[in-house]
Amino acid sequence: MFIRGRPITMYVPSNIQNYDNLKMELPSERLELDWVYGYRGRDCRANLFFLPSGEAVYFIACVIVLYHIKNRMQRHYRKHTDSVRCLAVHPDNVRVASGQTAGVDKDGKPMQACVHIWDSATLVTLQQIGLGTFQRGVGMGSLAFSIVDSGTFLCVIDDSNEHILSVWDCTKGTKHAEIKTTNEAVFDVNFSPSDSNNIITCGKSHVYFWTLSAGQFTKKQGIFGKYKKPKFIHCFVFSLTGDVLTGDSEGNILPWAKSAADTKTLGKGAKETYQIVRPIKAHEGSVFTLCTLKCGALLSGGGKDRKIIRWSADLAPERECEIPEKFGAVRTVAVVDDEGLLVGTTRNAILRGSFSDGFVAIGHLDEMWGLATHPSQSIFLTCSHDRQVCLWNTEEHNLDWCITLEEYGLCAGFCPSGSVVSVGLSTGRWVVLDLVTKEVISESIDGNEQLSVMRYSPDGRFLAVGSHDNFIYIYSVTESGRRYSRFGRCNGHSSFITHLDWSKDSCYIVSNSGDYEILYWDIAGGCKLLRNRFESKDREWASFTCVLGFHVIGVWLEGSDGTDINALCRSHNEKVVAVADDFCKVHLFQYPCPKPKAPSHKYEGHGSHVTNVCFTHNDSHLLSIGGKDTCILQWKVTGSGVGESRETLASASSTSTSSPEPPAS
Ligand SMILES: *[C@@H]1O[C@H](CO)[C@@H](O)[C@H](O)[C@H]1NC(C)=O
Repeated sequence: MFIRGRPITMYVPSNIQNYDNLKMELPSERLELDWVYGYRGRDCRANLFFLPSGEAVYFIACVIVLYHIKNRMQRHYRKHTDSVRCLAVHPDNVRVASGQTAGVDKDGKPMQACVHIWDSATLVTLQQIGLGTFQRGVGMGSLAFSIVDSGTFLCVIDDSNEHILSVWDCTKGTKHAEIKTTNEAVFDVNFSPSDSNNIITCGKSHVYFWTLSAGQFTKKQGIFGKYKKPKFIHCFVFSLTGDVLTGDSEGNILPWAKSAADTKTLGKGAKETYQIVRPIKAHEGSVFTLCTLKCGALLSGGGKDRKIIRWSADLAPERECEIPEKFGAVRTVAVVDDEGLLVGTTRNAILRGSFSDGFVAIGHLDEMWGLATHPSQSIFLTCSHDRQVCLWNTEEHNLDWCITLEEYGLCAGFCPSGSVVSVGLSTGRWVVLDLVTKEVISESIDGNEQLSVMRYSPDGRFLAVGSHDNFIYIYSVTESGRRYSRFGRCNGHSSFITHLDWSKDSCYIVSNSGDYEILYWDIAGGCKLLRNRFESKDREWASFTCVLGFHVIGVWLEGSDGTDINALCRSHNEKVVAVADDFCKVHLFQYPCPKPKAPSHKYEGHGSHVTNVCFTHNDSHLLSIGGKDTCILQWKVTGSGVGESRETLASASSTSTSSPEPPAS
């Protein structure tokens, strides 16, 4: 095999007799999206709603999640081809519009973005609007349905430099009008609740009042007059009386009113203007979100102060609460019922609660690197950039616990006994955690560069620590993973260690490095480099995560520069191999797949490069994690023939529950 013009020698194992005639086939196993962990709050707005069906609707990566809060079930709308950026709910509370970034394909060619209108009850796409007309896709908070005419129209602001505002007929999918709004950032758009010809937009230092008449827009600027012009107008709502209230970066809520034409000072021809009535200092830092309640009260959510404040209809503060610091600022608020609220935060958390009871997180994720599954239970561990190490339960779909370390973790491995897990950190330090007490029971440091792999030998007697300093450090492990002493060091790679696996007899290691080397090591015999690689061709590996190797040649694309596969993982039953690629996809190949251009099932959902994949202990599920998309996707493995009938396969839908599947009939 060649990568970057460099030959990589691999030897054909003895049990493969007729390599030339070997046929690569699709695996009979498939993946079905089972659960989505995560929410995109960091850089998106107005993207969490509560539907009368009892579901919260929000998005992460390319997936829109409908999460039934009481039943703890998820459904997924998955027709977007790149990261979703905005969401709007129709006044019928069933239809949903969602917009995505345009993105590029794997050859770097721009793809076409569009807005989908879909039915949240059936997940059927009703309309795709504007295919190819939205430059760079549709930005944050830039979709809205009209209100008075039973939601006939949809307005969209695209992500182009001019932020083009367009108005569409939702059912016909036709465009009625469009206009360039501004070169400045635009954060929010909405129709007036009393007249669909009136649209308001706001963003960096502006609020514009648009009137649509005979297909033509006219614009009026909100005039700040004697008030300081805020740097950003983040959001706005209409009060029950139809007044516009904006929330801005000065922490103010500004009520706007149309004043009659001031013909005395502005001369004849002067028209009515929009002016501030009575500014209200609401928050420290920004007002990121505003939300009107049926009774006329108002909710506001703050940036710096992390407060949610409830205001009476005449804007007197009534109640307030503060969300915990670790979740960041209040990004958006959705009303569940008389008391209950959902809160989306800037650190990607969704919280649920009320003013009286406070708030708890439904989920919280930051950029992730490390992923490991438990050797005998349905749990997995992630390490994220915010220095958190989190333990998740794949059956309960919840977070068991989370702790914060002093540095961030990049890799992790469970001890075969399953009682401890070791986590490799960004500085060469690594810690061993007790799963029950969550305490650090051992701490060591190897070199001063980031660690990339932590892997125990299958007999649990050794731990291999792969580092960016080109070494693999080997530790003797005793007391079921509670005591560690340095056994040796593998010295021979000329670049950082990327992946490594142990042999089934716990005596040998195979490793890959940043310059595409495959090396074999005799660990039991003193961490010696095995120079004759031919002699390792028949060795059996306890795990298979090395991206370079004879058995996985077929996962690589022709002419690859070596960076398009980030991780792979063989199933424990050794039938399939899952691959995390650099183009947002998860692949499932047959194992072994030793010939180029092997076919694979491909799965979309991530919105950025997939950084890692891992099967659960009995191969019932695959976990995949995204880098920048801060998302964990949990896939159900189907079609393996184990406990699966054709019927369960056929009836499997995008619905999943937290209770086990009913037995196959
Ligand atoms: C996998 O293990 C879990 C328990 O951790 C069990 O509930 C589930 O039924 C198992 N699945 C299969 C396919 O064996």
